[in-house]
Amino acid sequence: MCGIVGYVGPKETLDVLLGGLKRLEYRGYDSAGVSVISELGLETRKKAGKLTNLVNEIAEHPMRPSHIGIGHTRWATHGAPTDGNAHPHLGGPTQKLSLIHNGIIENFAELKAELLAEGTKFASETDSEVAAHLIAREYASVGDLPTAFANVVNRLHGAFTLLVVHVDQPDVVMAARRNAPLVIGLGDGENFLGSDVAAFVEHTKRAISVGQDQIVILRANSVEVRGFDGTPATPEEFTVDWDASAASKGGWPSFMDKEIHDQPQAVGDTLMGRIDADGVVQLSEVESLGVDWVNNIDRLVFVACGTASYAGDVAKYAVEKWSRIPTSVELSHEFRYRDPIITDRTLVVAISQSGETMDTLMATRYAKEAGAKVLAICNTQGATLARESDAVIYTHAGPEVAVASTKALTAQITAGYLLGLLLAQLRNSMPATARQALGQELLKMPARVQQVIDGLAQPRQLGKDFADAKSVLFLGRNVGFPIAMEGALKLKELAYIHAEGFAAGELKHGPIALIDEGQPVIVIVPSPREADTLHPKVISNIQEIRARGAKVIAVAEEGDAIVGDYAEHVIFTPQCQSIFSPILSVIPLQAFAMELATAKGLDVDQPRNLAKSVTVE
Ligand code: G6P
Repeated sequence: MCGIVGYVGPKETLDVLLGGLKRLEYRGYDSAGVSVISELGLETRKKAGKLTNLVNEIAEHPMRPSHIGIGHTRWATHGAPTDGNAHPHLGGPTQKLSLIHNGIIENFAELKAELLAEGTKFASETDSEVAAHLIAREYASVGDLPTAFANVVNRLHGAFTLLVVHVDQPDVVMAARRNAPLVIGLGDGENFLGSDVAAFVEHTKRAISVGQDQIVILRANSVEVRGFDGTPATPEEFTVDWDASAASKGGWPSFMDKEIHDQPQAVGDTLMGRIDADGVVQLSEVESLGVDWVNNIDRLVFVACGTASYAGDVAKYAVEKWSRIPTSVELSHEFRYRDPIITDRTLVVAISQSGETMDTLMATRYAKEAGAKVLAICNTQGATLARESDAVIYTHAGPEVAVASTKALTAQITAGYLLGLLLAQLRNSMPATARQALGQELLKMPARVQQVIDGLAQPRQLGKDFADAKSVLFLGRNVGFPIAMEGALKLKELAYIHAEGFAAGELKHGPIALIDEGQPVIVIVPSPREADTLHPKVISNIQEIRARGAKVIAVAEEGDAIVGDYAEHVIFTPQCQSIFSPILSVIPLQAFAMELATAKGLDVDQPRNLAKSVTVE
């Protein structure tokens, strides 16, 4: 969703703003714009569509050199994605103020009515323009930008990150944050603002995460942070561990392709330093919750949305099996509206790549109010979720730019395994030898992920071969079930075709009616090697659907000598403990969906209608 960049300093502002917006493109947007203060005063350019439209507009109508400015990519909420509704919005009759906004101002209608009654003319249909006019009016009355800005943000309800520049105070960018992301980048004689650190990581790695209901007064040589009530804040600085080059395609045709190939490293980095050679987990992040408290947990609830929720679904199998803590998985947006049982013995584990998904933030706030402790599994330093949680396990997947999640998922699942093993360790819920053997097995997974990556030519070819499919079904059982759901989600997101994931055991209770001549079905086949094997049951399922005309692609374990007799195509993945198989079996599905969408001529990095970071409920 909306991307925000602000800059003040000696560099050419337009370069910083456009570079930052480029790096925030992944968030999803449908228009873009910039304002700078130059010798001509306030200059603004904005354009519907992709960033290249804005760049062309600036080429046609060049802007003067500048050392202060703001930039925005907009994901439309109030008002269609037109040039007029694009940000920045200008405020006041003299149009000396420029504002950008991420979020929704819920009381905009009554504020707009107040301004209309005074004769204010509006140039857009947005809620954001209301804030621009209000701040301009307040500034005209009080004569001090920080005071005027604070007076207005205190009147706004809802979610907002706001950035403002004013011609009369050309050395300062004002910013405010409530329920929407904002991070400060600290430079030498220059400072930055961004929706996340990707906006400025090529310029500085020193950052500050802005807290809820805080205002920032940003100058080239100073950064002041205050509460909405004026109280000075002393925010903590952190160092960004992302490399700027990690957020570029590096020669790959798409970010998604690159990120699929990043997975051995994403899984390896997430494990690094967290399990020793004996298979003992060292996760001090979680131990900080208190060993006594961890021993008293009587319920664990994963909350997450989209792909992250499937990481929770996989982690549930591991956590419950190993730690014996009753575990459930809830979609964040459903969780708090059904009066769930949450007590001070509940551990809520929120999984989010961005750490800014509003539904997940609201779920965790609800859980905390009900007395639970919140542990975040998050990929983004300085994210709101990380700040608001009692403890954080960072996934070290690096920046994920493609909207459809790939490496973040395998890293999240890996973090889930670590959590399960740690809980088992702290609670002594399984024999140490078995637990440590699992830990040692987990350490072998990055190499196996690499083997899957090395064999992706086959699923990619299958993606091309099935480019004309109108619908694809996915079946899985046990830990393969969430992977079937994820395989279907990838295909919906990227290729815009009907896809559904089912529990294989559920087939006979309804979904089998969908099977018709030629229907492609991808089946995640469990390992035939383990004692409580589900393998024969899933093979029976394959026979049932083949008998009704399905074309079956199986994802099965190397050495499975049976599956080949029943499926048209078999994609083999390396042998491993069944519980760890999801981080292998999901990868061919990612490649299949990417290739199928590419064959249809679609943009796999930025699918239509989707935003990577959904910062509204
Ligand atoms: C959006 C994205 C998905 C993502 C989900 C959760 O819907 O399009 O790819 O899985 O948000 O995002 P999070 O940042 O919380 O993991």
